[in-house]
Order: sequence, then C-alpha cells, then structure tokens
Amino acid sequence: MSSRLEAENLYKVFGRRPDEAVERLRRGADREELRAEGTTAAVIDASFTVEPGQIFVVMGLSGSGKSTLLRMLNGLLEPTAGHVRFDGQDLTAISDRELREVRSQKISMVFQHFALFPHRSVRENAAYGLEVQGVPRAERERRADEALALCGLAGWEKSWPDELSGGMQQRVGLARALATDADLLLMDESFSALDPLIRRDMQDQLLDLQKTLKKTIVFITHDLNEAMRLGDRIAVMRDGRIVQTGTAEDILIRPADDYVASFIQDVDRSRVLTAGAVMDREVRGDEAECGCETATPDTPFTELCAMSARLSHPVAVLDAKRKLVGVVSGQRLVGFLGDEQTAPVSCDSPRGTDGGKAVAHA
Ligand SMILES: Nc1ncnc2c1ncn2[C@@H]1O[C@H](COP(=O)(O)OP(=O)(O)OP(=O)(O)O)[C@@H](O)[C@H]1O
Ligand SMILES: [Mg+2]
Repeated sequence: MSSRLEAENLYKVFGRRPDEAVERLRRGADREELRAEGTTAAVIDASFTVEPGQIFVVMGLSGSGKSTLLRMLNGLLEPTAGHVRFDGQDLTAISDRELREVRSQKISMVFQHFALFPHRSVRENAAYGLEVQGVPRAERERRADEALALCGLAGWEKSWPDELSGGMQQRVGLARALATDADLLLMDESFSALDPLIRRDMQDQLLDLQKTLKKTIVFITHDLNEAMRLGDRIAVMRDGRIVQTGTAEDILIRPADDYVASFIQDVDRSRVLTAGAVMDREVRGDEAECGCETATPDTPFTELCAMSARLSHPVAVLDAKRKLVGVVSGQRLVGFLGDEQTAPVSCDSPRGTDGGKAVAHA
C-alpha cells in the first residue's frame, strides 16, 4: 500500500546565513537580491501533496530548483526550512539512522544517466538496492527478475550492461527501483537521455506499470509534453518557486501567468485535452436520443475530432448517467489547438462549420 507525500513550505538556500535568507524571502525578498550577495535560493516556499498512486510532475527550466526539491524529498538534502512528510513520518525530524532506513526501504530514485555496474549482470544490477537492504541472494534474484520482467527485460537477466541499448539500460535502472518495493519513486529526468521514440515507449511503460503498482511518484522533467503525458498533477517551477500546480488541462487552459503561458505554446494540445475540458457547458436539454455517437468527458481530443468529422452537428458529451453535460462543435475544437490554428485535417468538419449552436437532438 503506497503512501501520501507532503511537502510543506520547503526552502533550500545555499550560501551564507541561510536562515536569515529564508526570513528575508518570507518577507518578500526575491532571488536576484540574494544572488547579488552570493546566496542561492534554490527552492522557495514549495508546498504540495502527492496522493498515493499519483504521478506528480515537477517541470521547469534549467536552474529552477527541481533537483534540489527532489533531493529534499528523500532527505539527501536537508531543507533550510519546512517539512517533508511521507507515510506518516516527518522526514525532516527523524534521526539520521531512521532516515537512512526510510531511504533504503521506502524510497527509490531513478536518475537521468543511470550508472550500471559494468562487471555485474543485468540481474545483479537490478538487485542492487535489495543487496544494500541485506535481502538474501535467492530472494533478491527472484525479485530482481520479476522487476526486470515488468520492465520488459525478461530473458536479459544474465546479460552484461554493455550488451543492452541505452533505453534498455534505463529500464534496468527502473527495474532496480521497482525491485526494492519502495512506495515512493523519485525520478529526476529519468528519460531525458533517451531518443524520442524510446522515450515515449518508456513513458507508456511507466504509465502501464503505474496502473497496477500504484506507487507515489515524483517525476522531474523540463519537457512539457512529457509532463502532460505523465502527470496526474503538474507543478511548474520558476526561479525556485512553484508558480502553478494543477492538472495538464488546468495548466493548458488556465495558465497562472505569462511564464506558464509561454511554456505551453508548443504543447501538442490534441494529446492532452479531453472533451470535459473543451466542451461548451451552456447547453439545454437532458438527453441525446438521436442515436448518434456521443462522447464522455474523458474522451480524448483526437477521438473527438474524428467523431466531429463524422457527424453533421456538434458532438454531445454525456456523463455516466447519460445526462447531457456539454457539446463540442468542430469550430470549438479548432479553437483549442492554439493560437496558430494548425488544426489536423480530421478536425475540419467536411460539412462545414456549425457555429456550435445546434445541440444534440433531444
Ligand atoms: N550544492 C549546491 N551549492 C550551491 N548552489 C547549488 C547547489 N545545488 C544547486 N545549486 C543552485 O541551485 C539552483 C537550482 O539548481 P537545481 O539543480 O535544483 O536546478 P534544476 O531545476 O534541477 O536544473 P536542471 O534542469 O539544470 O537540472 C541553481 O541556481 C544551482 O546553481
Ligand atoms: Mg536538475
């Protein structure tokens, strides 16, 4: 059973007199002011909660404080101020010995460049975390093999790392993290070194694994498309602060400021949005009875486009009780693709525009 992770008003200041710097930040000083004095406010007042089974993505440009934040979550870095709570324990208040224990039993970290031991087999590499925990050989090999199988590496147990491609090596890293049964997975740019196709593959694999494993995951990336694909919730960091936390749709449709807005310019919206986010809620009527195809609030954008192309009227969106909750016109779909209106061909309704007025026949 996985657990909830909570970060409460976390600060990390590098440099001289960090406590004093935190006080000044609390009173409104900004990062630049402190930097001029040779002090780096790497993380400023970060708070969030990750529910069990969720993937929480932290996104931001280089230097925005993502890795520092992540290292505070597993106690590798001590916060200058604030608290980290996991599984009912305040990691910022326990002894070093207890912290080491929590770290080896409950938390796993997967880095960007995963260093495998070259003279150990894939199985031994995957079992490394268990070896550190003192798990007997037979058991750790069994669990390592299970984790490798989960990561699509069954049959490679006895191979050497250099016989594996980069993507496969990264999978061994993931297997090592999964083998320990840690509830909390911390992933720092874990897929960033992979080429795009393999990267997508790893994202799919992680989403797939998560359906059954339901870990508590914090995933760091500077790639917004990756963030939007993986994140149940996403925090956007800028200059040490979290400037927005929300679902992919929240961030896409209601960016908190110009910085977030500039970030999302290049997102492939069609991969993120669902009917619930784009539908027009100002509709009348209780039920759609025309027998046409209908959507649910979860219907993906691309599917909506295909439906819209097949229908001569807007797509009706029905909830689980088949009550009409919204409609989506072809025009509305195009409008959501962003400023540049680079609509995929399938979104241009062959029957022309409908102005969004027609409602599914009641
Ligand atoms: N040990 C340290 N001592 C001093 N400054 C540090 C230390 N670690 C990080 N910093 C500074 O803190 C800020 C945030 O760094 P951090 O590595 O957390 O950013 P990041 O968002 O992970 O960046 P990247 O995307 O490049 O990995 C940077 O200005 C960095 O120079
Ligand atoms: Mg980093």
